[in-house]
Amino acid sequence: MATTLPKLILDTDPGGDDSLAFLWLLSLVNQGKAELIAVTSADGNVHARLTFVAAAKLLALCGHEAIEVGRGVIGGSEGDAEDAGYIHGADGMGNLSHTLPAIAHSYETARPADEVLIEKLKQAPGEITIVAIGPLTNLAAAEKKSPGVLHLAKEIVIMGGAFAAPGNITPEAEFNIAYDPEAAQLVFATCDNLIVLPLDVTRHVVFTPAMAAQVMEVAPTSPISKFVVDLCQFMVGTALAYRETEGQQGFLVHDASTLAYLFYPETLRFRRGQVEIETEGKWTRGKTLLDNRHAIKLTANAWVATDVDSVNVLALMIEDLKLLVKA
Ligand code: BDR
Ligand code: CA
Repeated sequence: MATTLPKLILDTDPGGDDSLAFLWLLSLVNQGKAELIAVTSADGNVHARLTFVAAAKLLALCGHEAIEVGRGVIGGSEGDAEDAGYIHGADGMGNLSHTLPAIAHSYETARPADEVLIEKLKQAPGEITIVAIGPLTNLAAAEKKSPGVLHLAKEIVIMGGAFAAPGNITPEAEFNIAYDPEAAQLVFATCDNLIVLPLDVTRHVVFTPAMAAQVMEVAPTSPISKFVVDLCQFMVGTALAYRETEGQQGFLVHDASTLAYLFYPETLRFRRGQVEIETEGKWTRGKTLLDNRHAIKLTANAWVATDVDSVNVLALMIEDLKLLVKA
């Protein structure tokens, strides 16, 4: 049977875990397993200007400067969102951006992310998967500007939400949803082709310095290996400071689970249902809900991950990162 290469747009707000997921994806692109149509940077972990630079730096680091980067739409939420520079570093990449190559992209002249999404989805209806690993502001802006456009995506794979698990921004809410709950609400209300990787699974995927060392070992002089090791070191520091890993030396690579779903789906288990976003609750703004009652459900918008084989997700990611640095 002929296989068609998955065509992807990565919507990302790098981010330490975004950066690792990004590198994993570029390895898969280099291996001929995926086509990266464009990157749309998002306002989130740090300001859109910085996530744009971070995305461009990662492309430059891996020799993929030709891929377009859209610049993040700002101002989707009601202004109550705080970024996560305290976890990811002031530049979103562990304060390491100065160690990476100069960028080939310009924030000033870049097209807005929503325009890039609209154009690409219309050019290839039903063919493109959006991997959304930041707040959903860009996707919502595209849908507002061009109603129905998100339906043109083959699938939208989202890292976001917390269902049975506690939140990481408030007791109930996860960062990507809580940063712009109105955007998330619009996306979940509009689409039925969503795949959701929530904290319930992503909290089990912990990348450690020993894993970074395994990557380094195969290509000790590679600038990508060095970046992986240094980023890991920085992220472990903040993960421990914010008690994210139960004291384990490691950091949570939330965003990487989206790629596990796309390329190694045997590592995850899902439930289908209707996901709703709470936008009004005083204590629950940004909470995600899935109706688990045993009653006939005529509507469903999402597959929500419930279990992950984290050992294998990490092992697979490490093997692919090794191929990236060895090249
Ligand atoms: C999500 O929030 C961000 O800080 C991470 O990059 C990830 O996308 C986890 O809640
Ligand atoms: Ca992210």
